[in-house]
Amino acid sequence: MREVLKLLSDSKFHSGEALGEALGITRAAVWKRLKKIEAAGIAVHSVKGRGYRIPEPLVLLEESRLRAAGLPDNVAVDIPFDTPSTNDVLKKKISLGAKLPALVITEHQTQGKGRRGRVWESGVAKNITMSFAWQFEQGPSVVEGLSLAVGVVIAKVLRDMGVTNPGLKWPNDIHVDNHKICGILLELVADQDVCRVIIGIGLNVESTPEQRAKVDQPWTDLTSRLAYTPDRNEVIANITKGLVDVCEAFASGEGIAKYHAQWQAFDVLFNQPVTVYMGNRQQSGIARGIDMNGALRLETEQGIELLHGGEISVRKQ
Ligand code: BTN
Repeated sequence: MREVLKLLSDSKFHSGEALGEALGITRAAVWKRLKKIEAAGIAVHSVKGRGYRIPEPLVLLEESRLRAAGLPDNVAVDIPFDTPSTNDVLKKKISLGAKLPALVITEHQTQGKGRRGRVWESGVAKNITMSFAWQFEQGPSVVEGLSLAVGVVIAKVLRDMGVTNPGLKWPNDIHVDNHKICGILLELVADQDVCRVIIGIGLNVESTPEQRAKVDQPWTDLTSRLAYTPDRNEVIANITKGLVDVCEAFASGEGIAKYHAQWQAFDVLFNQPVTVYMGNRQQSGIARGIDMNGALRLETEQGIELLHGGEISVRKQ
């Protein structure tokens, strides 16, 4: 599918014959692939005598573009066109002994996993679904607070691109003006000595109406915030560079303390009345930032309560 889409990515007309010739396949096989592209959610216009075109130009994910944008040489990259979940691809690779660090990105994630058992929607060839894995030889103890530091990396990349007011909502949603733009899902594959962390990131770059219809909270994307559509390859390369730095800092024991002040500077809940949901329990209070381990400091009538863990959700009152 990727090869046909790449030929169509200029949004110009291509005849079935020309596509078939370029790919070394029959016109019937071209037609089948075009149907698959449509089934994945990309409109293909067909005009008799002129051929096929997609409505808008596309820049596909490509290793050469990622490397040109600075993706570090020691990060192995894999770009399946479609896959259920990039986090699961890395989990599988790790079980087969893959060398880390490694990055997996896809054009079409079909069963994206969100936090707290939710589904993550990301459309086709428009957004960023990426997973990055790192091996911590020091074991699981050094990774406390890592997901918060990943939030800082992404908020900084967005700010450096020109997004106004990116913010972090504990533990690791990235918001712009109260609209979610990015979510992070960390998964650990640990044994006694070594801990491998999979950092899954879903970032909205150019959302489609179909995608928006499936999401039940206010959200936004880079295209509407920047008034242009950035090259996803560049954004992924910049995020990955930041992830390598953060993982190196955690591996050397610096931990969340190094990112504490930066996290607080992006904190959208600071001093806000919030309700925290923890399974069946809920608790209201005032959010007072994070402690030195990355726990949310919730001020209640009883004093400051420290909240840890990924299964908690927080809402502004
Ligand atoms: C959230 O619920 O906010 C976290 C969303 C994380 C989604 C990303 S997309 C890439 C990676 N693969 C997955 O299946 N999930 C994460």
